[in-house]
Parts: sequence; structure tokens; C-alpha cells
Amino acid sequence: MGFCQPAGQERHYVVDAAQDTPGYNLVSIGEHKINIRPAVKDDLANVVALDDRTTGLRKPEYWDDLFTRYGNRKDSRFFLIAEEGDTLLGCIFGEVRSWEFNSVPCGWVGTVSVEPNLRMGGIGSILYKEICRCFRKAGVTKIRTMIPRDATDLMSFFRAQGMMAGPFIQLETDMDEGV
Ligand SMILES: CC(C)(COP(=O)(O)OP(=O)(O)OC[C@H]1O[C@@H](n2cnc3c(N)ncnc32)[C@H](O)[C@@H]1OP(=O)(O)O)[C@@H](O)C(=O)NCCC(=O)NCCS
Repeated sequence: MGFCQPAGQERHYVVDAAQDTPGYNLVSIGEHKINIRPAVKDDLANVVALDDRTTGLRKPEYWDDLFTRYGNRKDSRFFLIAEEGDTLLGCIFGEVRSWEFNSVPCGWVGTVSVEPNLRMGGIGSILYKEICRCFRKAGVTKIRTMIPRDATDLMSFFRAQGMMAGPFIQLETDMDEGV
């Protein structure tokens, strides 16, 4: 299954108009039919394996906890997966956060991850668009994320979605012993 297309050819997304509930969608890229839906508990093993292939770290407890907090909330927290048949292609999660750091309510994208051998085929974009529909339904119009400075793939990806540097900066320090 390859999503990459020869240079110069356009990629055509065809959205299934019957699926008008944010968080649920059926999108065609070429001949591929990609189902987007909220994650369920049974997806966790595949999500853990995808994260391991992406980051080199296996964190089952983290994903289990995230699923407990995000998987059962459909109003302001969204954990979506993309699949073709039974095959997991990618996942994204995010939540609406209100008034943290004196910021108006906005949608935060936490992780987005696509199966390494299927990248640059449009799957990340359809996950992003779908979580945007969820955020819009939740009543927000602004989206934020935070990425490592050296994550050039994520930087290029989010720039391609129209994101630019925001008005906040992150500060940090190591705590002294005993503090
Ligand atoms: C970032 C990521 C999600 C993108 O997914 P994807 O399915 O490859 O993205 P898309 O094919 O929809 O790309 C959309 C656009 O983003 C840009 N882009 C995406 N990946 C890029 C890369 N590696 N280099 C340059 N541009 C890139 C391109 O402009 C692309 O548009 P184009 O194909 O028309 O040129 C994927 O590379 C990934 O999973 N990376 C690992 C992310 C990670 O570390 N996640 C865990 C911690 S958050």
C-alpha cells in the first residue's frame, strides 16, 4: 500500500459527504479508502507500536492513560485514528484548552503520527483536517501545537497546514536539589 505519488501529479481527496459527524469520515486518496474514527481501546496495541516505530520509545502506560482521559470524551478531547481496512495508518489527538496562560479557548494538537512508510501521502493532512472539524464543532477557531525545534518533518507539516509562530514562548529550568 503506497500513498506517495509521482512528482507533478495532483493528489485528490474525495470526502464521503454522507459522513457529516466531526471525528468520523471516509476519505479517498486515489484508490485508497481511509476511514477516520475515534480511537477505541482495541486500537491501543497498534498505536503503541506505531509510536515505537516513530519515536523509538515504547510507552504502553502513557497511551493507556491518554486513552482513558481522551478516548471517552467526544466534546473537547479528541483521539482519532486513520485506518484502511484493519490497518492503522496514523493517529492524532488534541483537546480544547481554555484560559491556560490567559489564552482564549483554542484547540491544541498533541501528537500526530503516520506510519513511517506511508508518509508524504496525505494521511497526516486528513487527520489534521478531521481534528479541525472536531475543534470547530467544540466552538473554537484557533489551533495551536508545540514541536521540538529539530523536528523538521513536524515543522514542515504544520507550516503546510497554515500554522505560524504564535504569541507565547516556552520557558523552563532544572530545579535545584531539594526544591
Ligand atoms: C509529520 C507527519 C505526521 C506528516 O504526515 P504525512 O502523512 O507525511 O503528511 P502529509 O503527507 O499530509 O503532508 C502534508 C504536507 O506537509 C509537508 N510535509 C510533511 N512531511 C514533511 C517532511 N518530512 N518534509 C517536508 N515537508 C513535509 C508537505 O508540505 C506536505 O505537503 P505535500 O505532500 O503537498 O508536499 C509524519 O511525517 C510523522 O508522523 N512524523 C513523525 C511525527 C512524530 O514524531 N510524532 C510523534 C511526536 S508528536
